[in-house]
Amino acid sequence: MNVGILTGGGDCPGLNAVIRAIVYKGIKHYDDNILGIYKGWKGLLDGGKIVPITVEEVTNILNLGGTILKTSRTNPFKHKDGLKIIQKNIKKYKLDAVIAIGGEDTLGVAAKLHKAKVKVIGIPKTIDNDVDGTDQTFGFDTAVNIATEAIDRIRSTAESHNRVFIVEVMGRHAGWLAVEAGIAGGADMILVPEYPIDLDEVVTSIVKRHARGEEFSIIVVAEGAALKKGSKEKTYFTVEAEADEFGHVRLGGIAYTLSKIIHEKTGYDCRNVILGHIQRGGTPTAYDRVLSTRYGIHAIDSVHKNKFGSLVALKGTKIVTTPLVQAMKRIKTIDSEYYKIAEVFFG
Ligand code: F6P
Repeated sequence: MNVGILTGGGDCPGLNAVIRAIVYKGIKHYDDNILGIYKGWKGLLDGGKIVPITVEEVTNILNLGGTILKTSRTNPFKHKDGLKIIQKNIKKYKLDAVIAIGGEDTLGVAAKLHKAKVKVIGIPKTIDNDVDGTDQTFGFDTAVNIATEAIDRIRSTAESHNRVFIVEVMGRHAGWLAVEAGIAGGADMILVPEYPIDLDEVVTSIVKRHARGEEFSIIVVAEGAALKKGSKEKTYFTVEAEADEFGHVRLGGIAYTLSKIIHEKTGYDCRNVILGHIQRGGTPTAYDRVLSTRYGIHAIDSVHKNKFGSLVALKGTKIVTTPLVQAMKRIKTIDSEYYKIAEVFFG
């Protein structure tokens, strides 16, 4: 079979491990031709660079960050005749199937293509871990480890200077990264998109710590978190008001605003740090290398079982397939039980 692979949306560690697994199993076990579709859905829209990938080309990429296939945030359904052009290029390159590796945007396009009878399989990728239908996306474990190490480092300087540090992590719609890294880093408060920020609660919590001699605090906040409605401060933080083709504006800056507000309300010495794309870079953890490899193998196996329209997913410790269209109906937000564990350590 001729199987196309593409990587779309934000990159993350583990993408190359997925590509390597698909190529190894596809070529060595199924005698497939594996074609790399460069730059995500843009590659299939422009028919730009769609070329065979060999085993030799992927032998040494398991531990490399990023994606050898490049990526984009192109949404074909925002382009005139986008679906028709994609179907034409699939025919032109004689692709029997496409494996789309991405988050909710990339996989949302795949779900629509499946409805239009395009033979597609999805693999859940994102450091946000907010793809529904799977217990964990690859890229998430690595980002948690990067953010945790950063929080540990911030803790030593916060303690030395008796400062309140607000650490902003990624996480557009869900606070998985904030909660996991916050718990692992021993955060004194964790603020997430799922629960609007109550500034009085935040200030009370910090003052309580100071009153008992803990004169420094670490607050971890997800970039997508927002102040409670009615707060006089701006309730949504964006860096770039211009939205991408999936309607997302660039986020960032809530940590800066929170550090200003907390200083004004308490007089405490405050600093903020935005971890940003550091959480998306570099080599994947061992856990993510294994999870990515498992996802890739299961995806190419699913192609050969004609399980098109599926998302490969982690359920417990098993890799399964689940309907892609169903998985795209909602974003996976954190459950309250999970947040309650973090709250034990607030204040
Ligand atoms: O979707 C993953 C993600 O890392 C989000 O957490 C973040 O808001 C966004 O991508 C950043 O996108 P870009 O790399 O296009 O700025």
